[in-house]
Amino acid sequence: PVQTKVEELLSEMTLAEKIGQMFQTDPGTVLRSYHSKIEVSTPVTGPISERTLSKELISNLGSILSATDAQTAYEVQKVFLQHNRLKIPLLFMFDIIHGFRTVFPIPLGLASSWEPKLAEETSRVAAAEGAASGINVTFAPMADLVRDPRWGRVMESPGEDPYLNGQMAAAMVRGFQGDDLKALDTIAACVKHFAAYGAAEGGRDYNTVDMSEATLRNYYLPAYKAGIDAGAELIMTSFNVYDGVPATTNSFLLRNVLREEWGFEGVVISDYTSLWETIFHMSSKDGEDAAKQGLEAGLDIEMISTEYISHLEQLVERGEVDVALIDEAVRRILTLKFKLGLFDDPYRYINIEREKEAHLKHEYRQLARKAAQKSMVLLKNDGILPLKKDVKSVAVIGPFADSGRILGGWSGLGKPEEAVTVKQGLINKLENDVKITAAAGCDYSSNDVSGFQAALEAAASSEVVILAMGEEDHMSGEAGSRAYLTLPGVQPKLVEEVLKLGKPTVLVLFNGRPLELKWYHEHVPAILEAWFPGTEGGNAIADLLFGDANPSAKLTMSFPYTVGQVPVYYNCLNTGRPKGHEDNDFRFLSKYLDIPNAPFYPFGYGLSYTEFTYSDTALIGDTLTPGGSVKAMVTVQNTGNYAGEEIVQMYVRDLWGSTSRPLLELKGFHKIHLAPGEKATVEFVIEPEMLSYFTAKKQYEVEEGDFKVFVGKNARDLIECGTFTYTI
Ligand code: IFM
Repeated sequence: PVQTKVEELLSEMTLAEKIGQMFQTDPGTVLRSYHSKIEVSTPVTGPISERTLSKELISNLGSILSATDAQTAYEVQKVFLQHNRLKIPLLFMFDIIHGFRTVFPIPLGLASSWEPKLAEETSRVAAAEGAASGINVTFAPMADLVRDPRWGRVMESPGEDPYLNGQMAAAMVRGFQGDDLKALDTIAACVKHFAAYGAAEGGRDYNTVDMSEATLRNYYLPAYKAGIDAGAELIMTSFNVYDGVPATTNSFLLRNVLREEWGFEGVVISDYTSLWETIFHMSSKDGEDAAKQGLEAGLDIEMISTEYISHLEQLVERGEVDVALIDEAVRRILTLKFKLGLFDDPYRYINIEREKEAHLKHEYRQLARKAAQKSMVLLKNDGILPLKKDVKSVAVIGPFADSGRILGGWSGLGKPEEAVTVKQGLINKLENDVKITAAAGCDYSSNDVSGFQAALEAAASSEVVILAMGEEDHMSGEAGSRAYLTLPGVQPKLVEEVLKLGKPTVLVLFNGRPLELKWYHEHVPAILEAWFPGTEGGNAIADLLFGDANPSAKLTMSFPYTVGQVPVYYNCLNTGRPKGHEDNDFRFLSKYLDIPNAPFYPFGYGLSYTEFTYSDTALIGDTLTPGGSVKAMVTVQNTGNYAGEEIVQMYVRDLWGSTSRPLLELKGFHKIHLAPGEKATVEFVIEPEMLSYFTAKKQYEVEEGDFKVFVGKNARDLIECGTFTYTI
């Protein structure tokens, strides 16, 4: 058994060899240390990049960050194993977030499909492509709950809801890891960033997080736990503090919650230099103190910075840390290497021939197209969509008109030149005699208006105009915080100018976060939120705009009226002075004087080309007892003219508790497909465990009381099903 092999190996290792397992560096550092002629460039996302470490240190190394192709992985593994005394293979880790070579929509987009199964499929493909390039671990899924669109990393998150985020995280873990970690097309998943990274103050990346334990447990922790419960092999600590202690050295998070409460037995890895950064958080005196705190908190691998390899040996020699803690960490790392089959063959995933065939297969592109169709949210349609295919001429205007930069941040080995642009998607869709003109008009964010004239001429001479606007890809993602949630540069001006032409106009948006769209909603006939849709983006957009696919996605993060309303999210508390209804103008209430409290587009919102009518809601059962259930029912009919999919959502309101309770909590959803005229009865079973929360007693319980049940199309447009009482 693996355990025996791990113990045997551990007993042969010197202390330095053990500590080496707990260090991760980039491939360039390894190759340089051995004077290899091979040059590699890897993403640098922190203050430390290139360095030279002693050959001895390198020969004990445990894992590699960001070797992205089989050739590099081969060279690094080979040169390393020549020098490693016990021939313990390296683990290769990389950020495969929404695809590797075939790029799928960004996670915030994919989550808008409300289809965990789809996320499982896309993660499966990403794993197959990544594994063929020698990667063993992906730093995904990101399960961080997000409420602040100023934070650039909202693009990597499934959104603002604990339940939906958990469903997506678990599905991605299943997709990456499959049933057999040793299979050649699976990789280990690393849930991140533990914990509460998404609550950075002001939306500024790496900033302070300060929240109550109840908020942490009721909102932020469930999605990480869902990923762990689905079997994720690793978890990554976050950059932020929780309760004043950096997550990377936070023993409450890493020992009490993760290991003791959740029983996690896998590997804990830091984020890029986050152990070293505890010195800048001013919670570690120096590197030695950081190393001691990290070890005691339960951090197994230090990424990039070198506090463990620089200090742990001396700390052990001086009797200041217990070597048993080091053994514990190394045991977990070696176990993972055994589980992945690397001791059977350190090169098992590295095969340059296989890599060539494994990327960008036709069926992967087809899945990318389907995923993109299912993640784009129709935000407005005054009837102009779907467009008719017998159109004579179409102008595509805007920086994304013919751009392959629609992959979004963290897009692995995805290449913009392999992505289908909007223009190309239209060419693929329409007959040869349709005139398609693309003109950027301006770039993403400068003030240069010199391209306006050509763009306006193209628009003026076309029957229909598609505006392809948005944020440049690097404006979201890590360190991509923004204080304005507007379209950057002169894009708003270009939109205004085009609209003056009075042409039938559709706005297609490319962005990694919720934006302020009120003005556009009031002035543009139709808006399609395309996010960063990935490799097949242009084809999927053409499918949706011309009605070969019907939009079905719904937002998983509220879109604010304006940035001053942030954070705005549906599962908020009521306050002691709730506004009640939007036209309530009594002064002394919790409200703004100048905008409503509700977001501009609510959580769960998204339109279709057809209409869905909800009726006959019912609650079967008015009393719930332990072990029992009640059932919410609703009939949904497709009363429009197109076949389509509807995401039917079920929310519960706990009418009172030992602490203040959220106004609504999503407890279930079903995605149904209906032909025109067809109807279906949708059922939701509610069981006591679904009502459990972290109560005033500081424990998880289901409290007795009354609960209201709602169903509907989104968190704003709900129908009440009834009230039940939970009694023990
Ligand atoms: O996985 C990422 C993390 O999300 C942010 N910092 C860098 C890591 C490794 O690339």
